[in-house]
Amino acid sequence: MPSHLLVEPLASDDILAVTGCLILDALCFPRPGFVAARDLTRPGFRAWVCRSTETPSPWGFLGCTRVRDSLHVSAVATHPDFRRQGVAFALMRTAILQARHARLARVVLEVSPDNEGAVALYQKLGFTISNRVPGYYGAGEDALVMTLPLAQPKTRLKTRS
Ligand SMILES: CC(C)(COP(=O)(O)OP(=O)(O)OC[C@H]1O[C@@H](n2cnc3c(N)ncnc32)[C@H](O)[C@@H]1OP(=O)(O)O)[C@@H](O)C(=O)NCCC(=O)NCCS
Repeated sequence: MPSHLLVEPLASDDILAVTGCLILDALCFPRPGFVAARDLTRPGFRAWVCRSTETPSPWGFLGCTRVRDSLHVSAVATHPDFRRQGVAFALMRTAILQARHARLARVVLEVSPDNEGAVALYQKLGFTISNRVPGYYGAGEDALVMTLPLAQPKTRLKTRS
């Protein structure tokens, strides 16, 4: 992770961070990806924020939920001004390490096939396309299901470069 970035758990009583995530949510998604008030109280929900060591407001966030033996990543986003600096990669890596630490079998997420940047990010982390769900995002808007298996203890997590 670049030395100017920090990844921290999102605390539901951290008003600055939660507000920052809601702003990011509005900036980054055509419809809400991270419904903070609802998600933060959902059992098993976890979120992290990534920020610069110089500023308190988040540059990116990731929200996920444990579902049986999988970690389901529901949203990851980086502020448009701070993209391609490794923010989302650092957040994803944190979630994957957490899932591995919890001995989960896999990390799973859905992404639009049109979202080439996000697909490239997940592929760089080792995810592969495991399914395609027709109409997941609405009529005619399919989702790719991408999966990173964690079962092999000797598999080393990829680093960024
Ligand atoms: C997708 C998104 C989260 C990437 O965030 P980011 O912080 O810019 O990503 P990173 O800097 O960590 O990128 C890591 C790698 O992912 C790939 N990648 C990321 N964005 C990319 C893009 N727009 N085009 C191609 N590859 C991309 C690259 O391989 C990149 O490594 P590199 O910069 O060394 O080439 C960000 O563009 C975003 O917030 N988009 C809107 C919300 C969204 O679509 N979220 C994902 C669906 S839930």
